[in-house]
Amino acid sequence: MARHLITSAIPYINGIKHLGNLIGSQLPADLYARYLRQRGHEVLFLCATDEHGTPAELAAAKAGKPVADYCAEMHDVQAKIAEGFGLSFDHFGRSSGPRNHDLTQHFANQLHAQGLIEEVSETQMYSPTDGRYLPDRYIEGTCPNCGFEDARGDQCDNCTKQLDPTDLINPRSTVSGATDLEERETKHLYLRQSQMKDDLAAWIDTKTDWPILTTSIAKKWLNDGDGLQDRGITRDLDWGVRVPVEGWQDNPMKSIYVWFDAVIGYLSASIEWARLSGDPQAWKDFWQDPEALSYYFMGKDNIVFHSVIWPGILLGI
Ligand code: MF3
Ligand code: ZN
Repeated sequence: MARHLITSAIPYINGIKHLGNLIGSQLPADLYARYLRQRGHEVLFLCATDEHGTPAELAAAKAGKPVADYCAEMHDVQAKIAEGFGLSFDHFGRSSGPRNHDLTQHFANQLHAQGLIEEVSETQMYSPTDGRYLPDRYIEGTCPNCGFEDARGDQCDNCTKQLDPTDLINPRSTVSGATDLEERETKHLYLRQSQMKDDLAAWIDTKTDWPILTTSIAKKWLNDGDGLQDRGITRDLDWGVRVPVEGWQDNPMKSIYVWFDAVIGYLSASIEWARLSGDPQAWKDFWQDPEALSYYFMGKDNIVFHSVIWPGILLGI
């Protein structure tokens, strides 16, 4: 008998999920959790809602609600759907919960102390009218590739070309429609993944039971081009975890990148489950016992985050 942590990729908060989420990452995980329980194994089966970032802010604005209210409502909707389909999660958490905020800041501090976080200056689009930097998705304009007039700063939905906001013709703010956008210098934190590459590669080599697709995607990220790149872990956004750096903590326009706190959501959900179950230390059996196993269920696009970025964060601390 062994202990198994089983997770389903935590669904974004914006909108009701389509059946693909259920079929891709929740149903197979549920099946596996039920199977292991019936075989007498100890199972912790978790999910949560992924609540930060631009998509949440934009969806709340569209619904005409404060983002915190919107997320609380949608969390209940998603939790009820999971319950309605009979998914046997032991806990269904929230990435925007206080435990995840604290833990995310703790992780950032630990990585910083290890020299694995670096401050970098870069150019971002700034809107004087809105009084803020605009993330890619807050900028729209004409696609230089196909002429589509509502292309987003990160991608054109008409021709699917990946874009930078600076590529757009006649760029405008989706917040206000302002067109007086300018490039300005701002600072961001980067996770120095390039420093972790060798440790990650060695660790991935020990994972001989991973699906082949997972291993090949992970290795592609480690080795393609110039190898594993440092990754920005902050964004110019209000809705998210505050950045635990002097002078940034109180800045309402800097927060932690949604993917960084989302993966930590698995651990926060485990700790919350332990508290609710009456044995606050119980999560440790699933996270700190070298004999315990972890199974992450997800769609293909999520693989790099679980096979490279999350393990890198964990190795780093
Ligand atoms: N919200 C993401 C999606 O729906 C999945 C996040 S999984 C986690 O694609 F690892 F970040 F937790
Ligand atoms: Zn286009």
